[in-house]
Amino acid sequence: MRLDPFVGAYLVDPAQVWRRLLDEPDRAHHDPDLGLWLITRHADVRRALSDAQTFGNALTLAPIYDVCPEAMEIIARIDAPPTTAAADPPVHPRTRRALRVTFANTPERVEHRYGAIVRRRVDELVSRLVARPGGRADLVGEFTTELPLLVLLDILGVPEEDVGRVRAWGDGQIALIWGRPDPAEQVRLARDLWEFWRYCEQLVRARLVAGPSGDDYVSQLLAYRDGDDEVLTVAEVSSIVFNLLVAGHETTAGLLAHALDQALSDPGRWRELREDPRRIPAFLTETLRFAPAIDGWLRVTRRAVTLDDVTIPAGARCLLLIGAANRDPAVFARPERFDPHRTDADGHLSFGHGPHFCIGAALARLEARVALTRLGQAVPGLRLAAGHRRSYKANVAFRAHRSLPVVVDATVPSGGPAAAVAG
Ligand code: HEM
Repeated sequence: MRLDPFVGAYLVDPAQVWRRLLDEPDRAHHDPDLGLWLITRHADVRRALSDAQTFGNALTLAPIYDVCPEAMEIIARIDAPPTTAAADPPVHPRTRRALRVTFANTPERVEHRYGAIVRRRVDELVSRLVARPGGRADLVGEFTTELPLLVLLDILGVPEEDVGRVRAWGDGQIALIWGRPDPAEQVRLARDLWEFWRYCEQLVRARLVAGPSGDDYVSQLLAYRDGDDEVLTVAEVSSIVFNLLVAGHETTAGLLAHALDQALSDPGRWRELREDPRRIPAFLTETLRFAPAIDGWLRVTRRAVTLDDVTIPAGARCLLLIGAANRDPAVFARPERFDPHRTDADGHLSFGHGPHFCIGAALARLEARVALTRLGQAVPGLRLAAGHRRSYKANVAFRAHRSLPVVVDATVPSGGPAAAVAG
Protein backbone atom coordinates (compact mmCIF):
# COMPACT_ATOMS: atom_id res chain seq x y z
CA MET A 1 0.00 0.00 0.00
CA ARG A 2 1.42 3.37 -0.99
CA LEU A 3 0.71 6.92 -0.03
CA ASP A 4 2.32 9.73 -1.97
CA PRO A 5 1.99 12.85 0.14
CA PHE A 6 3.89 14.97 -2.36
CA VAL A 7 1.74 14.80 -5.49
CA GLY A 8 -1.76 14.58 -6.88
CA ALA A 9 -4.73 13.34 -4.92
CA TYR A 10 -3.19 13.47 -1.47
CA LEU A 11 -2.29 17.14 -1.89
CA VAL A 12 -5.81 18.12 -2.90
CA ASP A 13 -8.00 15.70 -0.97
CA PRO A 14 -6.16 13.45 1.49
CA ALA A 15 -9.47 12.14 2.85
CA GLN A 16 -9.91 9.93 -0.22
CA VAL A 17 -6.63 8.19 0.57
CA TRP A 18 -7.47 7.87 4.28
CA ARG A 19 -10.82 6.30 3.40
CA ARG A 20 -9.14 3.75 1.13
CA LEU A 21 -6.62 2.84 3.83
CA LEU A 22 -9.32 2.56 6.49
CA ASP A 23 -11.31 0.21 4.25
CA GLU A 24 -8.37 -2.19 3.91
CA PRO A 25 -8.56 -5.27 6.15
CA ASP A 26 -4.94 -4.84 7.35
CA ARG A 27 -4.38 -2.57 10.34
CA ALA A 28 -0.90 -1.48 9.19
CA HIS A 29 0.60 -1.06 5.74
CA HIS A 30 4.22 -0.80 4.76
CA ASP A 31 4.90 1.94 2.23
CA PRO A 32 8.15 1.02 0.48
CA ASP A 33 8.57 4.43 -1.18
CA LEU A 34 8.28 6.37 2.06
CA GLY A 35 9.98 3.65 4.10
CA LEU A 36 7.23 4.10 6.70
CA TRP A 37 4.52 1.92 8.21
CA LEU A 38 1.11 3.54 7.88
CA ILE A 39 -1.28 3.24 10.82
CA THR A 40 -4.80 4.59 10.35
CA ARG A 41 -7.34 3.23 12.79
CA HIS A 42 -8.32 5.37 15.74
CA ALA A 43 -7.59 2.74 18.38
CA ASP A 44 -4.16 1.95 16.88
CA VAL A 45 -3.12 5.58 16.39
CA ARG A 46 -4.26 6.41 19.91
CA ARG A 47 -2.27 3.53 21.33
CA ALA A 48 0.86 4.41 19.32
CA LEU A 49 0.67 8.02 20.51
CA SER A 50 0.45 7.02 24.15
CA ASP A 51 2.37 3.72 24.54
CA ALA A 52 5.88 5.09 25.00
CA GLN A 53 7.32 1.66 25.86
CA THR A 54 6.42 0.32 22.40
CA PHE A 55 6.34 3.40 20.19
CA GLY A 56 9.23 5.77 20.83
CA ASN A 57 9.71 9.43 19.93
CA ALA A 58 13.47 9.33 19.28
CA LEU A 59 13.07 9.81 15.51
CA THR A 60 9.94 11.96 15.52
CA LEU A 61 11.91 15.07 14.56
CA ALA A 62 14.39 13.31 12.22
CA PRO A 63 14.05 13.65 8.42
CA ILE A 64 11.85 10.99 6.85
CA TYR A 65 14.26 10.32 3.97
CA ASP A 66 17.99 9.68 3.55
CA VAL A 67 19.54 13.10 3.85
CA CYS A 68 22.56 13.77 1.59
CA PRO A 69 25.97 13.53 3.36
CA GLU A 70 26.70 17.27 3.19
CA ALA A 71 23.38 18.19 4.84
CA MET A 72 23.78 15.34 7.34
CA GLU A 73 27.14 16.68 8.43
CA ILE A 74 25.53 20.05 9.23
CA ILE A 75 22.53 18.48 11.00
CA ALA A 76 24.90 16.40 13.14
CA ARG A 77 26.39 19.64 14.51
CA ILE A 78 23.01 20.69 15.94
CA ASP A 79 23.48 19.40 19.45
CA ALA A 80 19.99 20.23 20.77
CA PRO A 81 19.13 17.62 23.40
CA PRO A 82 15.70 15.96 23.02
CA THR A 83 13.22 17.64 25.35
CA THR A 84 9.70 17.57 23.89
CA ALA A 85 8.39 15.66 20.86
CA ALA A 86 11.75 13.87 20.36
CA ALA A 87 12.24 12.81 24.00
CA ASP A 88 11.58 9.39 25.51
CA PRO A 89 11.68 8.26 29.14
CA PRO A 90 13.58 8.78 31.37
CA VAL A 91 14.23 12.29 29.98
CA HIS A 92 10.70 13.13 28.87
CA PRO A 93 8.91 12.89 32.24
CA ARG A 94 11.42 15.40 33.64
CA THR A 95 11.21 17.87 30.72
CA ARG A 96 7.44 17.43 30.57
CA ARG A 97 7.22 18.43 34.24
CA ALA A 98 9.12 21.61 33.37
CA LEU A 99 6.68 22.35 30.54
CA ARG A 100 3.64 21.65 32.71
CA VAL A 101 4.83 23.97 35.45
CA THR A 102 6.02 26.83 33.24
CA PHE A 103 3.72 26.87 30.20
CA ALA A 104 0.06 27.73 30.78
CA ASN A 105 -1.91 24.74 29.51
CA THR A 106 -5.45 25.00 30.87
CA PRO A 107 -8.10 27.42 29.57
CA GLU A 108 -8.02 29.38 32.83
CA ARG A 109 -4.23 29.67 33.05
CA VAL A 110 -3.96 30.53 29.35
CA GLU A 111 -6.59 33.23 29.65
CA HIS A 112 -4.85 34.69 32.68
CA ARG A 113 -1.29 34.55 31.35
CA TYR A 114 -1.67 35.02 27.59
CA GLY A 115 -5.20 36.39 27.04
CA ALA A 116 -4.14 40.06 26.79
CA ILE A 117 -1.33 39.24 24.35
CA VAL A 118 -3.66 37.24 22.13
CA ARG A 119 -6.34 39.96 22.04
CA ARG A 120 -3.83 42.73 21.31
CA ARG A 121 -2.29 40.80 18.42
CA VAL A 122 -5.67 39.75 17.00
CA ASP A 123 -6.92 43.35 17.13
CA GLU A 124 -3.79 44.59 15.42
CA LEU A 125 -4.10 42.14 12.53
CA VAL A 126 -7.86 42.57 12.17
CA SER A 127 -7.44 46.39 12.05
CA ARG A 128 -4.94 45.98 9.23
CA LEU A 129 -7.45 43.91 7.29
CA VAL A 130 -10.33 46.30 7.97
CA ALA A 131 -8.22 49.22 6.79
CA ARG A 132 -8.93 48.07 3.28
CA PRO A 133 -12.61 47.18 3.03
CA GLY A 134 -13.63 45.87 -0.35
CA GLY A 135 -10.01 44.93 -0.84
CA ARG A 136 -8.45 41.56 -1.38
CA ALA A 137 -6.20 39.79 1.05
CA ASP A 138 -4.53 36.43 1.50
CA LEU A 139 -5.53 35.30 4.98
CA VAL A 140 -2.63 32.84 5.12
CA GLY A 141 0.05 35.46 4.45
CA GLU A 142 -1.61 38.28 6.37
CA PHE A 143 -3.40 36.64 9.26
CA THR A 144 -3.23 32.92 9.98
CA THR A 145 0.55 32.51 9.91
CA GLU A 146 1.16 35.93 11.49
CA LEU A 147 -1.00 35.65 14.59
CA PRO A 148 0.49 32.55 16.26
CA LEU A 149 4.02 33.66 15.53
CA LEU A 150 3.54 37.15 16.98
CA VAL A 151 1.81 35.71 20.05
CA LEU A 152 4.62 33.25 20.59
CA LEU A 153 7.34 35.87 20.21
CA ASP A 154 5.56 38.01 22.81
CA ILE A 155 5.28 35.07 25.20
CA LEU A 156 8.92 34.11 24.78
CA GLY A 157 10.17 37.70 24.78
CA VAL A 158 11.71 37.43 21.30
CA PRO A 159 12.23 40.82 19.60
CA GLU A 160 9.60 41.55 16.95
CA GLU A 161 12.26 42.51 14.41
CA ASP A 162 13.18 38.79 14.27
CA VAL A 163 9.72 37.72 13.14
CA GLY A 164 10.76 37.23 9.48
CA ARG A 165 13.77 35.11 10.38
CA VAL A 166 11.86 32.91 12.82
CA ARG A 167 9.06 32.41 10.29
CA ALA A 168 11.52 31.34 7.59
CA TRP A 169 13.37 29.03 9.98
CA GLY A 170 10.14 27.33 11.05
CA ASP A 171 8.98 26.83 7.46
CA GLY A 172 12.43 25.52 6.57
CA GLN A 173 12.54 23.03 9.44
CA ILE A 174 9.15 21.58 8.43
CA ALA A 175 10.27 21.24 4.80
CA LEU A 176 13.60 19.68 5.82
CA ILE A 177 12.12 17.04 8.14
CA TRP A 178 8.74 16.15 6.64
CA GLY A 179 9.05 17.40 3.05
CA ARG A 180 11.08 16.16 0.11
CA PRO A 181 13.75 18.76 -0.67
CA ASP A 182 16.44 17.99 -3.27
CA PRO A 183 20.05 17.71 -2.01
CA ALA A 184 20.95 21.36 -2.68
CA GLU A 185 17.84 22.46 -0.78
CA GLN A 186 18.63 20.01 2.03
CA VAL A 187 22.01 21.69 2.51
CA ARG A 188 20.48 25.16 2.53
CA LEU A 189 17.75 24.14 4.98
CA ALA A 190 20.23 22.31 7.21
CA ARG A 191 22.37 25.48 7.41
CA ASP A 192 19.27 27.50 8.30
CA LEU A 193 18.33 25.00 10.99
CA TRP A 194 21.79 25.21 12.49
CA GLU A 195 21.52 29.02 12.50
CA PHE A 196 18.08 28.75 14.14
CA TRP A 197 19.49 26.54 16.89
CA ARG A 198 22.39 28.96 17.49
CA TYR A 199 19.85 31.80 17.69
CA CYS A 200 17.89 29.97 20.41
CA GLU A 201 21.09 29.23 22.34
CA GLN A 202 22.09 32.89 22.20
CA LEU A 203 18.63 34.04 23.26
CA VAL A 204 18.80 31.83 26.34
CA ARG A 205 22.39 32.80 27.11
CA ALA A 206 21.48 36.50 26.97
CA ARG A 207 18.63 35.95 29.47
CA LEU A 208 20.97 33.99 31.69
CA VAL A 209 23.42 36.88 31.77
CA ALA A 210 20.63 39.42 32.40
CA GLY A 211 19.31 37.28 35.29
CA PRO A 212 16.01 35.39 35.21
CA SER A 213 13.88 38.24 36.51
CA GLY A 214 11.73 39.01 33.44
CA ASP A 215 8.19 37.80 33.01
CA ASP A 216 8.89 36.29 29.58
CA TYR A 217 8.74 32.52 29.16
CA VAL A 218 12.50 32.03 28.73
CA SER A 219 13.16 33.80 32.04
CA GLN A 220 10.47 31.67 33.69
CA LEU A 221 12.07 28.48 32.43
CA LEU A 222 15.45 29.64 33.74
CA ALA A 223 13.86 30.52 37.08
CA TYR A 224 12.30 27.04 37.20
CA ARG A 225 15.74 25.55 36.46
CA ASP A 226 17.25 27.65 39.26
CA GLY A 227 20.80 26.75 38.25
CA ASP A 228 20.23 23.03 38.73
CA ASP A 229 21.25 20.79 35.79
CA GLU A 230 19.32 17.92 37.33
CA VAL A 231 16.15 19.93 36.82
CA LEU A 232 17.03 21.20 33.33
CA THR A 233 20.36 21.95 31.67
CA VAL A 234 20.85 25.27 29.89
CA ALA A 235 21.00 23.34 26.60
CA GLU A 236 17.62 21.79 27.45
CA VAL A 237 16.15 25.26 28.03
CA SER A 238 17.44 26.29 24.57
CA SER A 239 16.02 23.11 23.08
CA ILE A 240 12.57 23.77 24.56
CA VAL A 241 12.63 27.27 23.06
CA PHE A 242 13.82 25.82 19.72
CA ASN A 243 10.91 23.34 19.73
CA LEU A 244 8.26 25.78 20.95
CA LEU A 245 9.01 28.29 18.23
CA VAL A 246 7.95 25.76 15.60
CA ALA A 247 5.42 23.66 17.55
CA GLY A 248 3.40 26.70 18.59
CA HIS A 249 3.44 28.51 15.30
CA GLU A 250 2.84 26.38 12.21
CA THR A 251 0.26 24.23 13.99
CA THR A 252 -1.98 27.04 15.17
CA ALA A 253 -1.59 28.73 11.79
CA GLY A 254 -3.00 25.51 10.32
CA LEU A 255 -5.96 25.43 12.73
CA LEU A 256 -6.80 29.06 11.91
CA ALA A 257 -6.62 28.50 8.15
CA HIS A 258 -8.68 25.29 8.26
CA ALA A 259 -11.28 26.91 10.53
CA LEU A 260 -11.61 30.01 8.35
CA ASP A 261 -11.74 27.86 5.23
CA GLN A 262 -14.56 25.74 6.70
CA ALA A 263 -16.40 28.77 8.07
CA LEU A 264 -16.21 30.88 4.92
CA SER A 265 -16.94 28.17 2.40
CA ASP A 266 -20.52 28.07 3.68
CA PRO A 267 -22.19 31.46 4.35
CA GLY A 268 -24.66 29.74 6.69
CA ARG A 269 -21.82 28.59 8.94
CA TRP A 270 -20.15 32.00 8.96
CA ARG A 271 -23.46 33.69 9.80
CA GLU A 272 -24.10 31.23 12.63
CA LEU A 273 -20.67 31.90 14.15
CA ARG A 274 -21.02 35.67 13.79
CA GLU A 275 -24.45 35.74 15.34
CA ASP A 276 -23.61 33.38 18.17
CA PRO A 277 -19.88 33.28 18.98
CA ARG A 278 -20.62 30.76 21.75
CA ARG A 279 -20.73 28.22 18.95
CA ILE A 280 -17.10 28.86 18.02
CA PRO A 281 -15.45 26.37 20.46
CA ALA A 282 -17.51 23.44 19.10
CA PHE A 283 -16.84 24.62 15.58
CA LEU A 284 -13.10 24.57 16.30
CA THR A 285 -13.29 21.07 17.78
CA GLU A 286 -14.95 19.82 14.60
CA THR A 287 -12.32 21.62 12.52
CA LEU A 288 -9.61 19.87 14.52
CA ARG A 289 -11.25 16.50 13.84
CA PHE A 290 -12.07 17.05 10.20
CA ALA A 291 -9.00 18.96 9.03
CA PRO A 292 -6.12 18.52 11.48
CA ALA A 293 -3.15 20.86 11.09
CA ILE A 294 -0.90 17.84 11.74
CA ASP A 295 -2.47 14.89 9.93
CA GLY A 296 0.44 12.48 10.13
CA TRP A 297 2.92 12.06 13.00
CA LEU A 298 5.88 9.80 13.59
CA ARG A 299 6.90 7.12 16.02
CA VAL A 300 9.54 4.39 15.90
CA THR A 301 8.83 0.91 17.24
CA ARG A 302 10.98 -0.04 20.24
CA ARG A 303 10.02 -3.69 19.83
CA ALA A 304 8.07 -5.75 17.28
CA VAL A 305 4.33 -5.00 17.28
CA THR A 306 1.66 -7.34 15.94
CA LEU A 307 -1.66 -5.89 14.79
CA ASP A 308 -3.78 -8.93 13.83
CA ASP A 309 -2.02 -10.47 10.82
CA VAL A 310 0.62 -7.79 10.39
CA THR A 311 3.84 -7.58 12.36
CA ILE A 312 5.79 -4.32 12.37
CA PRO A 313 9.42 -5.09 13.21
CA ALA A 314 11.38 -3.36 15.96
CA GLY A 315 13.11 -0.14 14.86
CA ALA A 316 10.52 0.63 12.17
CA ARG A 317 9.33 4.17 11.56
CA CYS A 318 5.54 4.52 11.63
CA LEU A 319 3.40 7.30 10.23
CA LEU A 320 0.36 7.68 12.45
CA LEU A 321 -2.31 9.07 10.15
CA ILE A 322 -4.17 11.28 12.59
CA GLY A 323 -6.33 12.58 9.73
CA ALA A 324 -7.54 9.03 9.00
CA ALA A 325 -8.04 8.16 12.68
CA ASN A 326 -10.24 11.25 13.02
CA ARG A 327 -12.51 9.80 10.34
CA ASP A 328 -12.64 6.25 11.62
CA PRO A 329 -16.30 5.16 11.38
CA ALA A 330 -15.76 2.98 14.45
CA VAL A 331 -15.62 6.20 16.50
CA PHE A 332 -17.30 8.98 14.52
CA ALA A 333 -20.80 8.90 13.04
CA ARG A 334 -20.84 9.94 9.36
CA PRO A 335 -17.16 10.85 9.60
CA GLU A 336 -16.93 12.40 6.11
CA ARG A 337 -19.39 15.11 7.07
CA PHE A 338 -18.17 18.40 8.57
CA ASP A 339 -20.75 18.95 11.26
CA PRO A 340 -20.05 21.56 13.93
CA HIS A 341 -23.08 20.31 15.88
CA ARG A 342 -21.88 16.71 16.22
CA THR A 343 -21.40 15.39 19.72
CA ASP A 344 -18.52 12.97 19.08
CA ALA A 345 -15.86 15.39 17.74
CA ASP A 346 -14.04 15.46 21.10
CA GLY A 347 -12.61 12.03 20.32
CA HIS A 348 -10.21 13.54 17.74
CA LEU A 349 -6.48 12.92 18.12
CA SER A 350 -5.27 16.17 16.60
CA PHE A 351 -3.44 17.30 19.75
CA GLY A 352 -1.99 13.83 20.27
CA HIS A 353 -2.78 11.59 23.21
CA GLY A 354 -1.02 10.47 26.38
CA PRO A 355 2.35 11.63 27.70
CA HIS A 356 3.17 13.96 24.78
CA PHE A 357 -0.32 15.52 24.56
CA CYS A 358 0.04 19.00 23.14
CA ILE A 359 1.06 21.47 25.81
CA GLY A 360 -0.23 24.37 23.69
CA ALA A 361 -3.73 23.04 22.97
CA ALA A 362 -5.48 25.58 25.19
CA LEU A 363 -3.44 28.44 23.75
CA ALA A 364 -4.20 27.36 20.18
CA ARG A 365 -7.91 27.20 20.99
CA LEU A 366 -7.87 30.64 22.61
CA GLU A 367 -6.10 32.20 19.63
CA ALA A 368 -8.53 30.65 17.17
CA ARG A 369 -11.60 31.54 19.23
CA VAL A 370 -10.60 35.19 19.66
CA ALA A 371 -9.59 35.44 15.99
CA LEU A 372 -12.90 34.10 14.68
CA THR A 373 -14.92 36.21 17.12
CA ARG A 374 -13.14 39.46 16.24
CA LEU A 375 -13.18 38.76 12.49
CA GLY A 376 -16.90 38.05 12.65
CA GLN A 377 -17.50 41.36 14.45
CA ALA A 378 -15.20 43.53 12.35
CA VAL A 379 -15.49 41.94 8.89
CA PRO A 380 -18.91 40.28 8.77
CA GLY A 381 -18.89 40.21 4.96
CA LEU A 382 -15.56 38.38 4.80
CA ARG A 383 -15.74 35.79 2.03
CA LEU A 384 -13.49 33.52 0.04
CA ALA A 385 -12.50 34.85 -3.37
CA ALA A 386 -14.65 33.23 -6.06
CA GLY A 387 -13.01 30.34 -7.86
CA HIS A 388 -10.36 29.75 -5.19
CA ARG A 389 -9.03 26.18 -5.28
CA ARG A 390 -7.63 24.68 -2.11
CA SER A 391 -4.03 23.55 -2.26
CA TYR A 392 -1.66 22.51 0.47
CA LYS A 393 2.11 22.51 0.92
CA ALA A 394 3.64 19.12 0.14
CA ASN A 395 4.42 17.56 3.52
CA VAL A 396 3.97 14.28 5.38
CA ALA A 397 2.99 15.83 8.71
CA PHE A 398 1.72 19.40 8.40
CA ARG A 399 -1.29 20.20 6.24
CA ALA A 400 -0.89 23.90 5.52
CA HIS A 401 -2.88 25.93 2.99
CA ARG A 402 -0.74 27.65 0.41
CA SER A 403 -3.14 30.61 0.40
CA LEU A 404 -6.64 31.64 1.40
CA PRO A 405 -7.63 34.56 -0.84
CA VAL A 406 -10.57 36.54 0.51
CA VAL A 407 -12.62 39.64 -0.12
CA VAL A 408 -12.49 41.91 2.93
CA ASP A 409 -15.95 43.35 3.29
CA ALA A 410 -17.01 45.03 6.52
CA THR A 411 -20.69 45.27 5.55
CA VAL A 412 -23.15 42.76 6.96
CA PRO A 413 -24.14 40.38 4.14
CA SER A 414 -27.81 40.11 3.30
CA GLY A 415 -27.51 36.42 2.27
CA GLY A 416 -26.76 35.02 -1.17
CA PRO A 417 -24.96 32.17 -2.83
CA ALA A 418 -21.75 30.68 -1.49
CA ALA A 419 -18.50 31.54 -3.21
CA ALA A 420 -17.48 28.75 -5.56
CA VAL A 421 -14.75 26.85 -3.77
CA ALA A 422 -13.37 23.81 -5.48
CA GLY A 423 -11.07 21.08 -4.23
C1 HEM B 1 -3.78 23.64 16.48
C2 HEM B 1 -2.60 23.77 17.02
C3 HEM B 1 -1.75 22.61 17.44
C4 HEM B 1 -1.75 21.31 17.04
C5 HEM B 1 -2.64 20.66 15.98
C6 HEM B 1 -0.71 20.63 17.78
C7 HEM B 1 -0.45 19.28 17.68
C8 HEM B 1 0.38 18.59 18.53
C9 HEM B 1 0.54 17.16 18.57
C10 HEM B 1 -0.14 16.17 17.64
C11 HEM B 1 1.42 16.87 19.55
C12 HEM B 1 1.84 15.46 20.01
C13 HEM B 1 3.26 15.14 19.64
C14 HEM B 1 3.63 13.69 19.99
O1 HEM B 1 2.82 12.92 20.50
O2 HEM B 1 4.77 13.33 19.68
C15 HEM B 1 1.86 18.11 20.12
C16 HEM B 1 2.79 18.24 21.11
C17 HEM B 1 3.32 19.45 21.48
N1 HEM B 1 2.83 20.69 21.18
FE1 HEM B 1 1.29 21.11 19.97
N2 HEM B 1 -0.10 21.54 18.60
C18 HEM B 1 -0.70 22.76 18.43
C19 HEM B 1 -0.40 23.94 19.08
C20 HEM B 1 0.66 24.10 19.92
C21 HEM B 1 1.03 25.33 20.57
C22 HEM B 1 0.29 26.66 20.44
C23 HEM B 1 2.16 25.05 21.30
C24 HEM B 1 2.97 25.96 22.17
C25 HEM B 1 3.04 27.26 22.10
C26 HEM B 1 2.47 23.66 21.14
C27 HEM B 1 3.52 22.99 21.71
C28 HEM B 1 3.65 21.63 21.75
C29 HEM B 1 4.74 20.95 22.45
C30 HEM B 1 5.87 21.60 23.21
C31 HEM B 1 4.51 19.58 22.28
C32 HEM B 1 5.37 18.43 22.80
C33 HEM B 1 4.87 18.02 24.15
C34 HEM B 1 5.63 16.83 24.68
O3 HEM B 1 6.36 16.17 23.92
O4 HEM B 1 5.50 16.56 25.87
N3 HEM B 1 1.55 23.10 20.30
N4 HEM B 1 1.18 19.14 19.51
